[in-house]
Amino acid sequence: MRIWIPRDAAAKALGADEVVKAVEAEAARRGIDVTITRNGSRGMIWLEPLVEVETGQGRAAFGPMTPEDVAQIFDGGPLSLGLTEELPWLKAQTRLTFQRCGIVDPLSLDDYRAHGGLKGLERALSMTGAEVVQEVLNSGLRGRGGAGFPTGIKWKTVHDAPGPLKYIVANADEGDSGTFADRMIMEGDPFTLIEGMAIAGIAVGATKGYIYSRSEYPDANEVMAAAIAVARVEGVLGQNILGSGKAFELELRVGAGAYVCGEETALLNSLEGKRGTVRAKPPLPALQGFMGRPTVVNNVISLATVPVILERGAEHYAGFGIGRSKGTIPLQIAGNVKRGGLYEIAFGLTLDRIVNEIGGGTASGRPVKAVQVGGPLGAWMPVSQFDTPFGYEEYAGQNALIGHAGLTVADDTVDMMAMARFAMEFCAIESCGKCTPCRIGAVRGVETLDRIAQGDSSAIPLLTDLCETMKSGSLCALGGFTPYPVMSALTHFPDDFTSQAREAAE
Ligand code: NAI
Ligand code: SF4
Repeated sequence: MRIWIPRDAAAKALGADEVVKAVEAEAARRGIDVTITRNGSRGMIWLEPLVEVETGQGRAAFGPMTPEDVAQIFDGGPLSLGLTEELPWLKAQTRLTFQRCGIVDPLSLDDYRAHGGLKGLERALSMTGAEVVQEVLNSGLRGRGGAGFPTGIKWKTVHDAPGPLKYIVANADEGDSGTFADRMIMEGDPFTLIEGMAIAGIAVGATKGYIYSRSEYPDANEVMAAAIAVARVEGVLGQNILGSGKAFELELRVGAGAYVCGEETALLNSLEGKRGTVRAKPPLPALQGFMGRPTVVNNVISLATVPVILERGAEHYAGFGIGRSKGTIPLQIAGNVKRGGLYEIAFGLTLDRIVNEIGGGTASGRPVKAVQVGGPLGAWMPVSQFDTPFGYEEYAGQNALIGHAGLTVADDTVDMMAMARFAMEFCAIESCGKCTPCRIGAVRGVETLDRIAQGDSSAIPLLTDLCETMKSGSLCALGGFTPYPVMSALTHFPDDFTSQAREAAE
């Protein structure tokens, strides 16, 4: 009997390891021989630990499983959900980047190959670097870390830069609260990231890459390190990748936990063994990055999307999405929501559908008040903006950003002024201290919000002024984007900032 139980950190946090032990004990009691594969998560976090069992028709799902309920895997019962692939939440998605996540054994290269893995790399090896760059350019892929810069243009800059030494760096320092796409792919399908980085190396002429991950992701780091070792032994990494004569080597590095090290230049400093502070741009990392050499710094999801682009062709990928937001986006639905998890879909969905239809509304059952899109530096979107199609330009037009596509849902009990204060406090704590608008501005921002909370509404224009200064004068996105959650909270929920309303609420 073949069984899959995720090794994903979210599934483990919900008891997956205990379920494995219980299934083994139950099978032994019944004298049934079971083979358990620890897969990645399918992304339906509210159903984790999701146990899957092989049947003649496909995999059957059971969840959320508990050690006490494992008999249902053998006898059936209320936790039996039917065929996994037929679950509406999964069936309605367009899984390209996450096509294998939750399906394969994360550390089996054979399984990876059997599910379409390495086809992109093999195709890239038959092309020139410039052709690979053009393919990525044609796909319309944009940086999934948040800024949405065209990946192909970044690669072309590095490709065209002179010099024999170039690098590929995967930014796996996924510090945004409510985001988990990087972690999920590293835990569930690590070879996709390795393949994407190898393709990037071939494209721009780099022979060395680094994955910069975070100490808060021990499970992802364990899987990633093991996958790199397997890829090396199997010839996907090393001096003669897949017999082509081209070389690409990869190393995993783990940061100590500063949010700002997710900013690409602070990340590069940290990777070089220096303190993680932001560097001024220019020079761009594409021209002077790691050790002063031309460097592609891409988010994990950008790199993990490259294999499917090469495998199926740029046109196929660009056929999804809206306007200049091409392809698919792994939405990470979190916060106060009934059905949270990872949902990969073409760009263009509205928040109304994402939160109410896919997410099933709030977990508390109360009305939705707002959704913060794009992590702790993203704007709060009120219900009146819920018809905005999910896309880079569409969100910019609403003074918002899609960021790394993390969505945190809040119900009507949430105090938006407290959320604004949280954003300023977060910035004050995580500031690298290099520039004044952020280092001092965030501290003054907290003080100003406290004045407003005490009924001093004359401080509101001061807060607006301060946000303008931080937005235009900060060196990086931490200080520059903190005004988004603060100003969106103030603009859309002014009542939460007035003393009368606050007193009434109390
Ligand atoms: P940016 O707009 O300065 O740069 C975007 C990327 O394009 C960078 O890699 C930059 O080096 C590159 N680039 C720009 N012009 C180029 C050119 N001519 N040639 C080649 N490359 C070029 O944005 P930044 O500061 O890198 O990122 C800000 C974003 O990061 C925000 O949108 C925010 O949402 C996101 N973010 C994501 C987090 C996460 O956990 N994923 C955490 C915090 C922020
Ligand atoms: Fe450092 Fe903040 Fe300035 Fe960024 S905005 S460089 S984190 S002080």
